[in-house]
Amino acid sequence: MKESSRTAIVTGGNRGLGFETCRRLAQENMGVVLTSRSGKEGRAATDLLRGEKLDVVYHPLDVTRSPQIDQLYQSVVSHYGRLDILVNNAGVFLDEGRPVVMENLRESGAFEAALAVLRQSIEINTVGTFCMCQKFIPLMKDHDYGRVVNVSSGMAQLALMGPGWPA
Ligand SMILES: NC(=O)c1ccc[n+]([C@@H]2O[C@H](COP(=O)([O-])OP(=O)(O)OC[C@H]3O[C@@H](n4cnc5c(N)ncnc54)[C@H](OP(=O)(O)O)[C@@H]3O)[C@@H](O)[C@H]2O)c1
Repeated sequence: MKESSRTAIVTGGNRGLGFETCRRLAQENMGVVLTSRSGKEGRAATDLLRGEKLDVVYHPLDVTRSPQIDQLYQSVVSHYGRLDILVNNAGVFLDEGRPVVMENLRESGAFEAALAVLRQSIEINTVGTFCMCQKFIPLMKDHDYGRVVNVSSGMAQLALMGPGWPA
């Protein structure tokens, strides 16, 4: 495995789009830090990519836990000394369990939103992403280079917003 000169962090890298993003970045000769909140799943995903001779390492990260963000930061600084790309991919769609049928849409608007679901969604999708930027962008600025990719959703766009999935 060749040592990479550039480094990327991907949040929620254990599955889905995050996992494939780790693979593609590593195929572009990036050193990738695959992060996930489940150690077991994150390590299994990392092993799979390392089996493809890709430069991927695992680090635990729940984006709602500041101490874990701090630990990741320390680890990246001590192992790589820099960060080139941050992919804020971790995200949840917690409204999913609600009935998604047209006649129910009017009953699942903002006024009926379950506050616990709303708070958790904002904590992960918005505050978590913000905290990662707050921590890592200064490191990018130190080296005059950096790219941040915030993975969003059409459901977060005003143009596509509607009733049905308030959180
Ligand atoms: N797939 C689509 O069609 C679609 C469309 C629009 C936008 N997106 C966005 O694309 C991103 C990835 O989507 P996906 O379909 O690949 O979703 P997914 O398969 O549900 O994966 C989401 C990832 O986020 C992680 N995650 C959730 N909460 C977290 C937290 N607090 N800290 C760290 N990681 C956390 C999950 O970890 P666990 O495995 O531990 O749950 C999982 O790794 C999301 O931001 C999503 O909103 C996807």
